[in-house]
Amino acid sequence: MLDNLHQERVLILDFGSQTTQLIARRVRESHVYCEIHPYNMTAEKIKDFHPKGLILSGGPSSVHDEGAPMAAPEIYTLGIPILGICYGMQLMALQLGGAVEKAPMREYGPAEIDIDLPGDIFNAIEKVGSRVWMSHGDRILTLPPGFLTMARSGNSPAAAMADPNRNFYGVQFHPEVAHTPCGKDILENFLFRICRCRPAWTMKSFVESEIDAIRQKVGDRRVICALSGGVDSSVVAVLLHKAIGEQLHCIFVNNGLLRKGEAETVQRVFQDHFEINLIYVDASDEFLGRLHGVTDPERKRKIIGNLFIEVFEREAAKIGGAHYLAQGTLYPDVIESVSFKGPSATIKTHHNVGGLPERMQMELIEPLRELFKDEARLVGRELGLPERIIMRHPFPGPGLAIRIIGELTAKNLEILREADAVIQEEIEASGWYEHVWQAFAVLLPVRSVGVMGDERTYDQVVALRAVESVDAMTADWARLPYDVLARISNRIINEVKGVNRVVYDISSKPPSTIEWE
Ligand code: XMP
Repeated sequence: MLDNLHQERVLILDFGSQTTQLIARRVRESHVYCEIHPYNMTAEKIKDFHPKGLILSGGPSSVHDEGAPMAAPEIYTLGIPILGICYGMQLMALQLGGAVEKAPMREYGPAEIDIDLPGDIFNAIEKVGSRVWMSHGDRILTLPPGFLTMARSGNSPAAAMADPNRNFYGVQFHPEVAHTPCGKDILENFLFRICRCRPAWTMKSFVESEIDAIRQKVGDRRVICALSGGVDSSVVAVLLHKAIGEQLHCIFVNNGLLRKGEAETVQRVFQDHFEINLIYVDASDEFLGRLHGVTDPERKRKIIGNLFIEVFEREAAKIGGAHYLAQGTLYPDVIESVSFKGPSATIKTHHNVGGLPERMQMELIEPLRELFKDEARLVGRELGLPERIIMRHPFPGPGLAIRIIGELTAKNLEILREADAVIQEEIEASGWYEHVWQAFAVLLPVRSVGVMGDERTYDQVVALRAVESVDAMTADWARLPYDVLARISNRIINEVKGVNRVVYDISSKPPSTIEWE
């Protein structure tokens, strides 16, 4: 049986559009639970899902392409309201007996629509000149029987169509993108007026129902969680603790490659404040020992990853009898494994504990696997996690090791840690923390001449890296104000012994990467 929270759910069939995830996020922002599934989901499975509405996403194909993705034709007989977006609309038109043709001109970018039939999904939308975002090469030539034109644009005589009797709607533009200002209202009209969903999906209700679900699943067994101090594992730990208290055991491995004060913060927040069973392992010496003399970045990563598993297993064995391993897998990782590309696409295991579950023969518990990152943050807030942890920048599993170019030594680590602490402080103080994806120091294996007082110095170079990004796939260097750069540089050179020069990395990704390694 579906719990209350999931009763009001919408299914999105993915035809490969880059904005399919955005559709899901918009729906969830309107407090309706939804999931993305591949376009070829069978009608039987769709029925079992019990959606109150179906959304057909856009996609890069033309409906006339050979092998173009098609939805199961039975979806139109299930009595479920359907909204087709772009390719989804054209497909609906074709499958229901209309005709689709190549448009004389590709329409890409902003457009204006005039609404012929107000109401329904266009309820309370400006009738003339509403701005929308188009991106299509095909257009509808003949509407399927039973359909009416709802709106038109310069290039699309049918910019929107509907068969209100069957609750089928199609829009040629993309309501899910920010460039369609009325898009949220259109989607909400579909969700609330057509599908008659109730806005039940909130992070408060998620937390309540998830806690129940975890309790039922876990029973009186034990759960182990690898806590890194990052957003995802922190939220998982606190959520599980709330559900099963003492049955949760968190393991936090200090690999000696953490930032200044990080190990202390994790202990203070999770052990002292939340009173979570926390096993703190200081394995710094072991990690530094194994990394001695290693300069190749790939080898560094391998050594760190393998030793992490070793240490973690050792500590987990001491707890004994644990049945579950908790992980902070998020929804985008789940979609990646089931979505348009099909089930063959490999499942992305969590970056840093990849391989752990198989080795340890434990069952996985992934309480965030339905959530987007911003939703996980909201859950963290709901659970009272400090803002500093909730809004924390990503920090790589191999830590400072991939930010020291060349050999890792205790002295180099100390220099990098101090320089990095200055950057964190100044980026926060300047108000830039929320605007950058990551900001950090890289220690270069280069010495250069400087002068301090009357003395000549021959010290190391620190590179400052600060980037803006939405998903780390692409990134651009942050245009930090000169005075922020000046303060960071002054403070590092004055306060961090061993550094006499700071440079700013102005490379974008691609072709560079965010980390230097
Ligand atoms: P690059 O350097 O590939 O980084 O542009 C993209 C994002 O991934 C992070 N990163 C890692 N995170 N383990 C992690 O947990 C790793 O080995 C690793 N390598 C890179 C990086 O910080 C950036 O956010």
